[in-house]
Amino acid sequence: MEQAILLHVNGRDWSLNIDPEMPLLYALRNNLGLNGPKYGCGMALCGSCMVWLDGKAQPSCMVPCATAAAHQITTLEGIGSVEHLHPIQQACIEEQAAQCGYCLNGVIMCAKELLEENKNPSDTQIREALQRVLCRCGTHTRFISAIKKAAAHVHSTQ
Ligand code: FES
Ligand code: FES
Repeated sequence: MEQAILLHVNGRDWSLNIDPEMPLLYALRNNLGLNGPKYGCGMALCGSCMVWLDGKAQPSCMVPCATAAAHQITTLEGIGSVEHLHPIQQACIEEQAAQCGYCLNGVIMCAKELLEENKNPSDTQIREALQRVLCRCGTHTRFISAIKKAAAHVHSTQ
């Protein structure tokens, strides 16, 4: 049964009449029009639906809205925009890292979480951070190059 749920998304509060058990991914895409997170598997296996809950990357397909309401939610739209790309987004473009781009949301959300904690990650640490994201196109090496480039950029601007 639907009920009022307050979601805190990208610094804004949204009151929605929704099923509290509905996955957060559906509320983000269908109710709020935030299409950065994608539906891939619906089983926390592919990472395409990744968002941040209180700064930690989580698959939004497995988080009920009632649970998400207790957290600050950040989506890809809260990280960068077409006008103001995040350095990871800019580096992905420069390195031509994506092919179909379906995994890109998960890659960026996990990479940004990594760079928040580790400003100069090794290849191994980047690989570990991306383990929860499945890239069917197999462009992993380019994503690693892009994330290293973004890390160097963040370093040089601090
Ligand atoms: S759709 Fe959520 S992890 Fe695949
Ligand atoms: S670029 Fe196509 S799934 Fe990763």
